[in-house]
Order: sequence, then C-alpha cells, then structure tokens
Amino acid sequence: MSRNVLQGRRILLCVAGSIAAYKAVSLLRALVRDGAEVSVVVTPSAARFVAPLTFETLSGRPVRQHLFADAEPMPHLRATEEADLVLVAPATANCLAKCALGLADDLLSTLLLAARCPIVMAPAMDGDMWDHPALVSHVWTLRDRGVVVLEPEEGSLASGLVGKGRLPAEHVVLEAVMACLARRRDWAGQRVLVSAGPTREPLDAVRFITNASSGKMGYAVAEAAAQRGAEVVLVSGPTALASPPNVTSVSVLTAEEMWHALDARFSWATVLVMTAAVGDFRPRHPCSGKIKKHEWNGAPLDLERTPDILESLSRKRTHQVLVGFAAESGDLLANGRKKLRQKDLDLVVINRVTGAQSACGSDTNEAIFLPRHGQAIQVERLPKRLLADRLLDTVREYGVMPLPSPARPQNKEIRRIQ
Ligand code: C5P
Repeated sequence: MSRNVLQGRRILLCVAGSIAAYKAVSLLRALVRDGAEVSVVVTPSAARFVAPLTFETLSGRPVRQHLFADAEPMPHLRATEEADLVLVAPATANCLAKCALGLADDLLSTLLLAARCPIVMAPAMDGDMWDHPALVSHVWTLRDRGVVVLEPEEGSLASGLVGKGRLPAEHVVLEAVMACLARRRDWAGQRVLVSAGPTREPLDAVRFITNASSGKMGYAVAEAAAQRGAEVVLVSGPTALASPPNVTSVSVLTAEEMWHALDARFSWATVLVMTAAVGDFRPRHPCSGKIKKHEWNGAPLDLERTPDILESLSRKRTHQVLVGFAAESGDLLANGRKKLRQKDLDLVVINRVTGAQSACGSDTNEAIFLPRHGQAIQVERLPKRLLADRLLDTVREYGVMPLPSPARPQNKEIRRIQ
C-alpha cells in the first residue's frame, strides 16, 4: 500500500506500559517520516519505560499523560477530536480489558471510550496472558465492535520464555494503520462468495480424510469484504473459527457438500474467492458403520477424485470474477500460471505449503498474486487479515468489478460455525 495514505493524517499514538514501549519510539519516527501528524499519549507506567520527552521531541508536540493534571481541560476529548485514527502500541492486557469493558478511569481508557475514529491496537504481553480466556474474550469483544486488534508475534519474550506476545513488527503495524485509513466501503454492492477451510471425506462413520487447512485465510477474506461493504456468504468446511460479523455462514463437511452449497449461490455472486483446501480424493466406498479393526481389508482406501469445484463453476460463469488459491511447492510461479489458465481464473493467490514458511494453519502468510492481466505481485509476509485487504485491493485493480444485479441469495441461513 502506498505510504502517501499517511500524508497529513492525524494519528493519536497511545503508548501503554509494556517493555515494548521503547518500540513505539521507532513507530513514531516512521509515522512522522511518512508525513503523519502524530500526537502521543503515554500512561504513567509507559512513562517509566520511556521518558515522555523522547516522544515530545520526535513528535514536535506536547505529550498527554493525565486526565486531570495537565494544563489542558478534558484532554481525552481534545485528543480524540483531533485524530483520524487512534493507534495503541503497545496495548497491554490491562488496556485491552478496560477498552473491552468500557472502563474509563485514566486518560487512555477514557479517550478510547470517547474516540469516534478507527482504533488499531497492537498488543504486547507475556504469552500466557494473551492466551488467558479472559483476554481471548476481550479481544473477541473488541474485534466484534470493529476495533482492529492485531495478533502479537511469536518469539522470545521479555520474560525469557518463547511464545506469542511480542509487539507485531513495525511494518505490520504501519500496514494496519494505512489499511484502516484507506478503508472505504469500496466493496459496497458486491456479492462475495467465499469458500474456506478443509473438507472431510469419510472412510466410515467415525474416520475421515482431511488436511491441515485452518480456514483462517478464507475467514479473513470474508471479514474484510464485509467490512468494506460487500454482502458476503462464507461456505466453510469444519474449522475452529467463529463466523465473522455481518457474514452469512454455511457449514459443510465434504467436497460434494461444498460444491452444492457454492453451486446454489454462484449465480447470485459477483465475486467468488475459493480459499478452501478442497480434498482432491475421497474413499470410493465409505462404510456406513464403524469398521472393526479385525475387519479391515483396505477397501475404503480405494480413492476416487472429488469434483473440481472451481473448474466446474468457471465453466458456468456468466459475470463472476473468479479468484483461486494455489497451495504449491517447487516452481510456484509456473504452477500458478498453469492453474490460472486451466481453471480460467481472474487471479490466483499462490502460497508455499512446504517448509517453515508454510501457509497452513499460520496466522500470517506470504503470497504471490498472479492476475490474469498484469505482472505477478510478490506480497511480503503479513497477518492474514491484512493480506485479505491487499487481495481485495488487487481484485479491484485487476479484476473487472462487475455491476451488481438484482438477484438475491435463495438460502439466507445464518448459522454460527463452531
Ligand atoms: O488444482 P488445485 O487443487 O491446486 O487448485 C486449487 C484451487 O482450486 C483452490 O482455489 C481450491 O479451492 C480449488 N479446488 C476446487 N475443487 C477441488 C480442488 C481444489 O475448487 N476439488
């Protein structure tokens, strides 16, 4: 995304009391370098880690610290009135909890309650705190409310332990800020059909063949499209994820079920994003009961191909923009090009599925976007939610965005996917 987005934008950088507060100094410099007008708020504990004078010098503005002690009356209102975006980095467990609960007992929590502009929070804390059920539920509450809460990074923590809790990398925080500032309802009028997750192909009543897909990429695409104004139907195989807000979710198990669910809604859609890791093979003769150990003769492992959903929908396309995903190893670009042609797609997202950088299950992803018309675009490793926004930007740029027609989905069933 172009850094011009930051030019002249007013950002309120709030620094809470984590050891990662020192990284906010570099973040402030990057924001100022790219033309943002940054005001800083520090909590009393953050001021113990980094002297407010550091932020004052680099921002060229007085730093706000207290609700009452500073000369200015009602600093929480002044601070937020002047901001296009509030960035909390680092956001501590305390700060996330207070914001989720709507508490207002100091300057930071009060201004978060007063803010009417977008809020981005970049957490930093110990891994056990991030994983605590109380925090998990606070993060869900905040996200549900539209606050962008970034995922902390894995790595060595100040406690000496290794885990998930590091402040997200500077480029990730900047990308989230820019995405938020640039976000328009630029997908309003589009009807987006997204497939996600793995499929399950039964061997018998209790056993099945599946794959390592977590569904995170597809859910991120569905969430991003809905936030940008599209009507979204998410057809998902079994995952552990909750349906994103304002998305109609349909649960399926097998490739066959996914095919029917997508086929039934395809004429409604203006864009299909096929992120699902559809099983390519299924047992030809699954057993209806449970196969007993001593009865095993290998027969259920006689496999047949599943329908290629994307290829079959591509043959039926009338106006839809088609986006496919390609999980590849070896020559990623050559394999991706082949898929683009074979399935007659508008864009293919190529993911590497081998080695430490594998896309499967991870919260982050690195990809190549290969549009039908145009050059391949290498996208750096980003959280999947931010990658989803990049994908939507690229589809707008390279896919011919169709005009919405009056068709409505026939099955508007809203189910929560567990
Ligand atoms: O051919 P390959 O499986 O690599 O293609 C990947 C793309 O095709 C993905 O977008 C995936 O969702 C889709 N696909 C499908 N039906 C299958 C297998 C893959 O629609 N049976």
